[in-house]
Amino acid sequence: MAATTTLRQFRWWDIEKVRRIEEDLFPEDPWSAEMFWSELADVPHSRYYVVAEVETPDGDREIAGYAGLMSQAGAAATVEGWVQNIAVARDHQGKGLGAVLLEALLEEAARRNCAEVWLEVRTDNDPAQRLYTRYGFESAGIRRGYYQPGNHDALIMRKAMA
Ligand SMILES: CC(C)(COP(=O)(O)OP(=O)(O)OC[C@H]1O[C@@H](n2cnc3c(N)ncnc32)[C@H](O)[C@@H]1OP(=O)(O)O)[C@@H](O)C(=O)NCCC(=O)NCCS
Repeated sequence: MAATTTLRQFRWWDIEKVRRIEEDLFPEDPWSAEMFWSELADVPHSRYYVVAEVETPDGDREIAGYAGLMSQAGAAATVEGWVQNIAVARDHQGKGLGAVLLEALLEEAARRNCAEVWLEVRTDNDPAQRLYTRYGFESAGIRRGYYQPGNHDALIMRKAMA
């Protein structure tokens, strides 16, 4: 992680900035502010959310990415984690920030004793699939028409935690 990049907890006052990135990256089906509010309401019980901040040229900090994990705290014998979302603003992609965010989710999944972590990704999203494969996620099936309204298929991926 570059020295100027920091990870911190995603707070409610970040939602507006995160929504701008969300609208840009997922124009067909962005998460609404209400969806983010609802996710953050379950932190830390069944959710874990972080933002990545980078330093701007004028010395301020701006949100460059965000990611969230769902994991029900442990009644079941096998605890599952789900990557809820992971996104890096267009200007900051391709510099390893996605990897930093994914690592943070996987570290939290390990702390929560997840035996496996799952995610869905559009079948045509090569950069994201490359990232997930690099971290040990394997294909576990296809959900046809999962992403609406665009009717795109989802690839389900699974990673067994050591
Ligand atoms: C997927 C995403 C989170 C990866 O974040 P990132 O900071 O770019 O990730 P990294 O720099 O660690 O690169 C991950 C891989 O994607 C590739 N990549 C990143 N940006 C790319 C781009 N614009 N075009 C092509 N490949 C790209 C990298 O080369 C790397 O591949 P490698 O593992 O074979 O080296 C980011 O591209 C993103 O936010 N995309 C839009 C939102 C999205 O699709 N989220 C995932 C939903 S499941």
